Amino acid sequence: MDQQEMKAMTGKGAVDRLVTSGMKLGLGTGSTAIHVVRHIGMLMKEGKLKNILAVPTSFQPLIACEEWGIPIYTLNSKEIGGQLDLTIDGADEVEGAHYCVKGGGGALLLEKIVAYASRSYAIVVDETKIVKNLGLCFPVPLEVIPEARISVIREAERLGAEGTLREAVRKAGPVITEHGNLLLDIRFKHPIDPVALERDLNQIPGVVENGFFTRLRPTVFIGHTDGTLEIRE
Ligand code: 5RP
Repeated sequence: MDQQEMKAMTGKGAVDRLVTSGMKLGLGTGSTAIHVVRHIGMLMKEGKLKNILAVPTSFQPLIACEEWGIPIYTLNSKEIGGQLDLTIDGADEVEGAHYCVKGGGGALLLEKIVAYASRSYAIVVDETKIVKNLGLCFPVPLEVIPEARISVIREAERLGAEGTLREAVRKAGPVITEHGNLLLDIRFKHPIDPVALERDLNQIPGVVENGFFTRLRPTVFIGHTDGTLEIRE
């Protein structure tokens, strides 16, 4: 199986095992999580899933929900009341304790708000995302207030990381997030403590949120090249 096929199999597999009619669902962002949305849309069209209430984590799943006719809400909607049954999302890196780095698609802020407001959480990844230590290979994104771009890079250096501003593709200048902020990608040179960093990075003035997700114990669905779907509880 190639990587695209692994992503599709994993997204579908998670939906088939976890999603039932009537659920309030957080829907993640990225090229793996989009298969979750599509499969839910397909099952709804076939009448196999009903009364799904979806809270998308960015424009990407929101537009996919519109295309598939999946009813869209926000976390603040009366019908949702700030709490979801389940969120399924992708990740950039996952390690043994199921701590993750997320935000490669730039949606970490709403992804974290939605994840932490969910009773249960699942991550869908292909096998290339499993690592021993977070933050050494894939950089950890920070969503920052534009005015704090340089001062946050300085503070990140004091924590042992090198930071760069994320540049946009097919638009001159930096990526502007869906919340009007900038993204810094920070890379560590030595193994780090993701639990402490998730807490400490948010103490830097101007950091809105960071891409460490360590306070949940997600079920991790891992697609392998041989076509098997591994589930780590
Ligand atoms: C977006 C994310 C994505 O879930 C993460 O980047 C993984 O994406 P993909 O499945 O395309 O590799 O955190 O902000």
